[in-house]
Amino acid sequence: MLAQINMYLFAVWTAVSQWPINLLSSTSPFREIFTVPASADNGALLIPNIQDPQAVDVQTVCPGYTASNVQTNDYGLSASLTLAGKACDVYGTDVESLSLNVEYQSAERLSINISPSNVDASNSSHYILSEQLVPRPSRDSDYKSDIKDHDLQFSWSNDPTFLFTVTRKSTGDVLYSSKGSVLVYEDQFVEFVSSLPENYNLYGLGEHIHGLRLGNNYTATIYAADTGDPIDYNIYGSQPFYLDTRYFEVDSDGKKTLVTSTATDPCKKYESYSHGTYLRNAHGQEVLLRPENITWRTLGGSIDLFFFDGPSQPEVTKAYQTGAIGLPAMQQYFTFGYHQCRWGYKNWTQLNEVVETFKKFDIPLETIWTDIDYMSQYRDFSNDENTFSVSEGQKFLSQLHANGQHYVPIVDSAIYIPNPSNASDAYGVYTRGNDSNVFLSNPDGSQYIGAVWPGYTVFPDWHSDESVPWWSNEMVQWYKDIQFDGIWIDMSEVSSFCVGSCGSGNVTLNPVHPPFSLPGEPGNIVYDYPEGFNITNSTEAASVSAASSSAASATATATAILTSSSTTPDYLRTTPTPGVRNVNHPPYVINNVQGDLAVHAVSPNATHHDGVEEYDVHNLFGHQILNATYQGLLAVFPTKRPFIIGRSTFAGSGKWAGHWGGDNASKWFYMYFSIPQALSFSLFGIPMFGVDTCGFNGNSDAELCSRWMQLSAFFPFYRNHNVLSAISQEPYVWASVTAATKTAMQIRYSLLPYLYTLFHAAHTRGDTVMRALAWEFPNDPSLANADRQFLLGPSLMVVPVLEQGAASVNGVFPGVPTTVWYDWYGQTAVSAKAGENVTIEAPLGHIPVYIRGGAVLPTQAPGYTTTESRKNPWGLVVALDAQGSAEGSLYLDDGESITPESTLDVEFRAAKGSLKVQMEGKFEDTNALANVTVLGVEGCSGSVKLNGQAVTGAKYDGESKVLSVTGLEDLTKGGAWKGGWELSWS
Ligand SMILES: *[C@@H]1O[C@H](CO)[C@@H](O)[C@H](O)[C@H]1NC(C)=O
Ligand SMILES: *[C@@H]1O[C@H](CO)[C@@H](O)[C@H](O)[C@H]1NC(C)=O
Repeated sequence: MLAQINMYLFAVWTAVSQWPINLLSSTSPFREIFTVPASADNGALLIPNIQDPQAVDVQTVCPGYTASNVQTNDYGLSASLTLAGKACDVYGTDVESLSLNVEYQSAERLSINISPSNVDASNSSHYILSEQLVPRPSRDSDYKSDIKDHDLQFSWSNDPTFLFTVTRKSTGDVLYSSKGSVLVYEDQFVEFVSSLPENYNLYGLGEHIHGLRLGNNYTATIYAADTGDPIDYNIYGSQPFYLDTRYFEVDSDGKKTLVTSTATDPCKKYESYSHGTYLRNAHGQEVLLRPENITWRTLGGSIDLFFFDGPSQPEVTKAYQTGAIGLPAMQQYFTFGYHQCRWGYKNWTQLNEVVETFKKFDIPLETIWTDIDYMSQYRDFSNDENTFSVSEGQKFLSQLHANGQHYVPIVDSAIYIPNPSNASDAYGVYTRGNDSNVFLSNPDGSQYIGAVWPGYTVFPDWHSDESVPWWSNEMVQWYKDIQFDGIWIDMSEVSSFCVGSCGSGNVTLNPVHPPFSLPGEPGNIVYDYPEGFNITNSTEAASVSAASSSAASATATATAILTSSSTTPDYLRTTPTPGVRNVNHPPYVINNVQGDLAVHAVSPNATHHDGVEEYDVHNLFGHQILNATYQGLLAVFPTKRPFIIGRSTFAGSGKWAGHWGGDNASKWFYMYFSIPQALSFSLFGIPMFGVDTCGFNGNSDAELCSRWMQLSAFFPFYRNHNVLSAISQEPYVWASVTAATKTAMQIRYSLLPYLYTLFHAAHTRGDTVMRALAWEFPNDPSLANADRQFLLGPSLMVVPVLEQGAASVNGVFPGVPTTVWYDWYGQTAVSAKAGENVTIEAPLGHIPVYIRGGAVLPTQAPGYTTTESRKNPWGLVVALDAQGSAEGSLYLDDGESITPESTLDVEFRAAKGSLKVQMEGKFEDTNALANVTVLGVEGCSGSVKLNGQAVTGAKYDGESKVLSVTGLEDLTKGGAWKGGWELSWS
């Protein structure tokens, strides 16, 4: 949902450009009454520390610490750290004495914790992240100490002040070293530095719109922000985790030398070693990646570092999920079907038309969504009786459900506070919450009142024991009216359209329009189109351009009034006061996209029931509302897996929800960025990820939408979503998009069993779903930055066209010639040389997809819905590797139960002219097997037997090396997986 309007001017992005043309909102068609002024969202003028020429470098003035009283134990050591000189008090008050605790927690995990020695609940000057909010990994109960043999070796010294290193024992490689820096630990500022090798490869540190490999000159600011996907700034989620991959050249004696270039010499042998680092800290923070080092700066909390030894990405990701943040939620089968959404579906009738139009064009539609349009005056858990009435909704939803389709509505994070002097404005959701005392307060104990879509709002306080029961109950009550199938959580950073408790004393003013114009309102017509629109649609582009420039000149005068004359900016710089924190304007200014921490968010001094200030837990609101919603959905559907897509996330949110990429725009570069964003969320343990396909802000066009509908078909979460008043972009709007979409959906839906099996492996073992090439081919340094193509699971590679006007795409085929790749469509092996950039023909409507040799992919004939698909006959694609072998698996259950009554695991193994199928489990699937297609078969007479019985429908094509076996239905009547079988060919 809309965060910021007119977001395409990244190059000129400044703090003052955030709230364009607001003067016109008084002429908006909504209601001619009070609107919170846009100026209410202006914060102090700040200069981010990393840009401030006057900024003090703490490394040059702070004394560091000295370790003493070091005590070793079976699992690590503890020590006291004492300030090694005069306090520097640069961005806070130095903490005199710290405790160091090092613990080997499992065979793959090392914990290093540095916290103030004397923190108790009453000492509000230092907040340490609560284990109730974010569980702290503890030593595995069955872990037997192996400190000497552990691959991660911790060491420390006091030379010249306290420093520590983490070394990988097996390679001698230094993974982390604070040598050459001092530890700085103040009540509002913590800094710790590690050197890194030249040209290091780091990934993660979200959430950002950025390439997959972060580079050696990047500042990753982590502070949850409601903002429309600006590149390289902090956005919705907070993911303080990175993967560090190091490539070594291995000589003939097995000696390993770190390589600092991504150029791969095909004559040389390489190996890579990856480790993961998680900082369990929820404060606003930033991570400075510089050519030689990484500097972590937080606005509080503790240094609570966890290292995962890998040494491969899959092992790091598994260990991070199983040992620290939790495994991702298993999704219901239906959630892998196609989702359609937009802001601006006006009523149930229109929603029904959309559903019917999909059907008319025979484009599979699984789930229809509504944005805030359905709400009564934007109030949660309410329906507009004129447009989205409960009675009409019930009819619509019962028909939808009867057709095997689903419905997901948006739910916002803020709760409308009604006008107390107007009885007809009463709002039960607020009243019940207020009676249970579940909302955030101001420091003086009064209710904190911000402003969001419905007008003045309050905000749930997830630290109150009553908040989750209240939230669940509201969901249960609303479900009685509206039978939703999942929930979409928005605005959870948590967003507020004004600074501070702007509604205090003003609630009777009753604003009903947000403090900025909505897309489509005067002054905010959506004129923007994808790059290249002027080439592909020149006539239309010319008239749009004329309309947009006349509108621009009309509003220029208005803008001029807003722009103050330019004098030297008078930045607010604060200095620490001993023992007192300045939470609203901390002395260290992070490079927050919104500037002031209070802008467009609940202010840092909002106060929770346990006295904790929002400053200390801001990054957790989005995480906790996902937990609350998960509990709520369990209350609604006690046995079903909750389906939630949320905007703001934290480390571990994946155990409750999926995530969408937020407010992108209909631009080609955003389509590209969806890949690194998805891969980053793979590392964060949130595999259920997708972006607003065809683009949210701005208008889309046929070419972009065609490419994007095809690309997103290979993302776990597949949804098209659009902004208010932009032109329609459902896949039936353009004939070319309809055709392209159907082609891609055909593939997606036939592979649903593969995708579902991948998710089960993610949910049970921490396997990665969407995978970077570098993770599957870890010994090829040239893939370190490959993020324009990707793998879905281990066996499917997608090489999308990401450029306007292109009819081909350059792709690499990793692992060749050892690895064989088969073209999905032609079913023949690709001929490519190692490291070669192959030009692949990809006219509009075609998305290159390849199967990795060695894989057996279970397929099912696609139906209109996933429910229909699940009743269709099975197929298998057996893609042989260079040795003529392949393997794969299939997981089945009822597709919705949290604890399914029965499950089925099927294993496929092909070798030496035979495919053996074995199964375990009791889940019954009665669909027959229709076909088996074997790719890469060398010399075959076409004689095929199933359990020794001759099969007639077999054809072998010696040129393509494809063996197609069809007509197996009769032989597998009653179910393809009823019992083990063997298919052999010779
Ligand atoms: C590093 O990034 C900064 C800020 O984007 C830029 O000004 C500078 O030129 C970059 N330095 C190098 C060496 O690329
Ligand atoms: C980190 O590296 C940068 C250059 O890349 C250097 O300017 C800075 O002093 C280093 N910081 C520390 C603490 O070593």
